[in-house]
Amino acid sequence: MGVPTLTLLLVLSIVRSGVTVTSDAKGCGYTIVLLGSTGDLAKRYIWPALFDNSLQLYTHHLQDCQEQRLVIFGASRSEVADRETALDKSLVNVKCKQSDSQCLKLLANFKESINFVKVKTSLDFEQLSQIIRDRYEVLNIMELGRLVYLSIPPSAYVATVDHISEHLKPSGLTWLRVILEKPFGHNLSSALALNEAISEQLEEMQVYRIDHYLGKFGVQLISNFLAVNSDVLKPLWNSNGVQLMEVAMEETLDVSGRGSFYNANGVIRDIHQNHLTEILTILLMNPISDHQTEKFKVLSDLFSPRLHHTVLGQYTDYQKHLQEDGLHNHSNTPTYASVALYSRNPKWSGVPFVLTSGKQLSRRRAFARVIFKQGVVTGWTGRLGCPPEIHFLIQQDGSKPGILISEHFSSLELKMSTTSIDWIKTLYNDPESNCLFTHFEPKADITSNSYISLIGAVLNGEKEYFVDSECLLESWRIWTPLLEEIDLIQPHPLLYSADDLPTLEELSFHGIRRTPPHTQKLENPFQDHVTLFSANSTFAESEQIKHKIVLANKYELSNILAEDLLSVAVVSIDTHGSFHLALPGGTSPVLLLGSLSLDYQHSFPWGRTHIWQTDERCVYPTNQHSNFRQLADHLLSTVPIPYLNLHPMPVHLQQGLCIHGDYGADFYQKQLIDFLPEGQLDYVLLGVGSDGHIASIFPFYQNVPKGDKLVEVVEWDGIFMNKRMTLTLNCILEARHIGLVFIGENKRDIVQTVKRSFDSSLDNSGEQLPVLKLIQRAKKEQLTLYIDQSCCQ
Ligand code: BG6
Repeated sequence: MGVPTLTLLLVLSIVRSGVTVTSDAKGCGYTIVLLGSTGDLAKRYIWPALFDNSLQLYTHHLQDCQEQRLVIFGASRSEVADRETALDKSLVNVKCKQSDSQCLKLLANFKESINFVKVKTSLDFEQLSQIIRDRYEVLNIMELGRLVYLSIPPSAYVATVDHISEHLKPSGLTWLRVILEKPFGHNLSSALALNEAISEQLEEMQVYRIDHYLGKFGVQLISNFLAVNSDVLKPLWNSNGVQLMEVAMEETLDVSGRGSFYNANGVIRDIHQNHLTEILTILLMNPISDHQTEKFKVLSDLFSPRLHHTVLGQYTDYQKHLQEDGLHNHSNTPTYASVALYSRNPKWSGVPFVLTSGKQLSRRRAFARVIFKQGVVTGWTGRLGCPPEIHFLIQQDGSKPGILISEHFSSLELKMSTTSIDWIKTLYNDPESNCLFTHFEPKADITSNSYISLIGAVLNGEKEYFVDSECLLESWRIWTPLLEEIDLIQPHPLLYSADDLPTLEELSFHGIRRTPPHTQKLENPFQDHVTLFSANSTFAESEQIKHKIVLANKYELSNILAEDLLSVAVVSIDTHGSFHLALPGGTSPVLLLGSLSLDYQHSFPWGRTHIWQTDERCVYPTNQHSNFRQLADHLLSTVPIPYLNLHPMPVHLQQGLCIHGDYGADFYQKQLIDFLPEGQLDYVLLGVGSDGHIASIFPFYQNVPKGDKLVEVVEWDGIFMNKRMTLTLNCILEARHIGLVFIGENKRDIVQTVKRSFDSSLDNSGEQLPVLKLIQRAKKEQLTLYIDQSCCQ
């Protein structure tokens, strides 16, 4: 049997959907259910976009379907008393010129196609389903697809999607597509939860998450331009050619009227996590391969930025606007942020991607600039102080979207998109920089309503213009640590008014700090001790203060720890030519590994650094529980460390995983002895488990290794993954420096146990705990305790 013809599909659809439309039906319809049809977004953008799409449907006939139309249901939570008033209010932005009789006629038809319904409860959804069926029966047309647009608060998404799934899923071949507006979640975990809840009711192919920037002509222009010029640009489009990419969105708007929403979100959630990240992804992805897969690859290569890669601002009237909206507490929510992102992909090594956006700035515009290194195009230097540049004008009040290409590229003959658009090409001398560009802009007027093309794309099932669930989560993965850091530290944003902007722009553009700020270290353990432990503690008097304690939030801790490691590395290399570092697994080192990869990618002596493991689970290195795999994912794949300097624990040998007869532990011990100068590791980093274990030395594992064993395999019954290889306490205590990290709220109790052991030498309740044994036996100045503040509050 061949591919069914559309006519056949339509007949099948009629049969399966149970719609009592006769096969001589005159046309086809797309149902639109607009939930939140009286809201601001609907009035400003969605209704005009629906009108535009209805016009396009009239002009594009499907084969075998004489007439296509939209059958629209404007749904709101309350009853519509008067249809004419509701139409006037909803369509306030849908206009035809009085002289355009054709448009007026179509507008009249469009109005006729609109039905207002009250939809609030499950029963309402059930009734709506019947109303839709009745409507098609009366119109005597076939329903091709059903689009439900959720222009409602995200808090109502899950319940609404449940109702849609229960009552509005059409049967047969009629498709269902559901459009969701951002925000999709507040951070990684809420986005995950939201996605999971929605995926229980709808297939991913039915979900269309809108980022309205993806529908903008200026944004689509970037991908078209990169696709048609991919051959010419390929050699330059990497860290050899590109110096900096900047994606910016400036707004003159303030937050009046939406203070409550805005204050809970701030500029990074509102703009960076979605619009700016999407545009950056387009700039970085291979323009001619599978869209979503390529997008995901680009996103997963991006490091999470940190506070020290960020400039935050707040406009001076912000607090006043919040008060007018009924919020009276002081707020540090940023209304401006400029953040530098970096990729771990070697192709983009060291290239900053600066994403900037702010409210109440001096002008409204969005753009993406790619600034190249001088000399990237041979034979053309351009004017003094003018770098080679391609500047995508996404939107700007008073001008059309377009592209500025600096004079350096004249010889390359870059093409504009191959679509049927006519372009105007002029020379442009930028008055601010005095640099010369070729300016391309489309001849025709371009609508600023990106919902027109996006709704069209949903009707056509073109998912590449929407945010898929994996990319969404990846984007939250990138932004959540910075958002958490801001929530935790509550840094004071710089105050700005539109007039102060030159300073802010300067800060964002030139002033990005590439390395962590030098956080003040809490060198004096006595003072920390008082903060951390009770004031009447005997610890201070007992002269046991031999270990340094660093107390800070987990983000600062990771910065300090990275700096400390660098200091030890420098001294070690100075003394014996290499730096031997043993790293643990688990959650404790993850932030540190991120800091090392991102901030010390090029400024750490990786070439002389040897990486050892404190312990390893007896699993294959590809297993997600493998500590070495974690090191590879979070650090080793990014930093330029020689392969020969890696010393994974040999848990997988000839006979299998940690098999006694393979002598893996002995083998590792021999490597340590052979490699280590004077048999000592320079630094052993240890995370402390909530049960007081360090490396894989557990409290219940009492076997003291015999003699001077440095490495052993420990094994016990009844616990998942009950076999591990570990450095012994003896081996750890031989190290020149030991770092002990307490991170995470679940470490509160163990921190208190440590405190008690400091407070009273008589308290030996936890004396068997490995962490206490280590603290007791470590020599003066050998050990530093890095304690996350949240463990002590
Ligand atoms: C929205 C943000 O996504 O985009 C708003 O929530 C912002 O805060 C708006 O004003 C800007 O969109 P546009 O299309 O006007 O640039």
